[in-house]
Amino acid sequence: MERTDIVVITGGAGNIARATIKKYLDNGCIVIATDLKEKNEKDEFLNNPNYEYYKCDVTDVKSITNLKEQIEKKYGKITHLISMAGDAIGTDIKGIEYVTIEDIDKTIKLNLSSHIYITTILLPLLKNETETDNKTITYVSSINALRAYDVPVYSAAKSALYGLCNGMLIDMGKLNIRVNTISPGTILKPHEVAENERTNGEYAKGRPKTKHKDFAINEDIADALYSITHVMKRMVGQNVVIDAGQMA
Ligand SMILES: NC(=O)c1ccc[n+]([C@@H]2O[C@H](COP(=O)([O-])OP(=O)(O)OC[C@H]3O[C@@H](n4cnc5c(N)ncnc54)[C@H](O)[C@@H]3O)[C@@H](O)[C@H]2O)c1
Repeated sequence: MERTDIVVITGGAGNIARATIKKYLDNGCIVIATDLKEKNEKDEFLNNPNYEYYKCDVTDVKSITNLKEQIEKKYGKITHLISMAGDAIGTDIKGIEYVTIEDIDKTIKLNLSSHIYITTILLPLLKNETETDNKTITYVSSINALRAYDVPVYSAAKSALYGLCNGMLIDMGKLNIRVNTISPGTILKPHEVAENERTNGEYAKGRPKTKHKDFAINEDIADALYSITHVMKRMVGQNVVIDAGQMA
């Protein structure tokens, strides 16, 4: 029987993740989506036999360990980890003058520590994959890590993912696991897209600057992730920026 890649995607109820899940399912992978949110009974992928959804809080080691045990029982291994869950939190959005100690800790835990937790806990499952040498870990960072967007702790955590990636490369190389990061630009919410179109791109002026009318969309990030994991099989230790020229 033909083997199938098993892809774990955290933050699996989120906007970028939904487009990413579709991309991997459309390409014949088994997708294990996990999120803090309960399973949505209206989840459009639930009828797909290659799709699984588990509730998992990536900031909680017990919750990730439980996820690992469930995956291990059913599949014994995974082929790709896309560590995507993340967000800017509370007072961090107001800037460095106003961020509270509590929100600093929460932000670092979600946007940095959780990626390290899940890597160390799921690593044995990646090692158990012996039928292919195309195995990957990809961290979802942000262009917030690269430019001034006044969300300081989120930016600090997102930039630390580049360091995490670099710091693992020698060990992961020995295990044949390619590690990369991806940094999406701003993805407009539906009402923001409408406003951007209505003002013929003028809306962009009120956002971090862009030289184009368009911003990146969820499907762009999904395509780029699929490229990193399944097309550019010699890409190692890179950060891929997908921002429709926002930083140009
Ligand atoms: N949307 C953008 O403009 C943008 C830009 C750059 C980077 N990013 C990054 O892309 C990733 C996905 O963003 P999105 O736009 O799809 O956001 P989203 O809010 O739609 O999705 C994030 C998901 O993460 C989940 N989550 C939050 N805390 C969690 C936890 N503790 N455990 C498990 N799941 C948790 C949420 O429930 C949510 O479903 C995030 O890491 C975000 O920082 C987004």
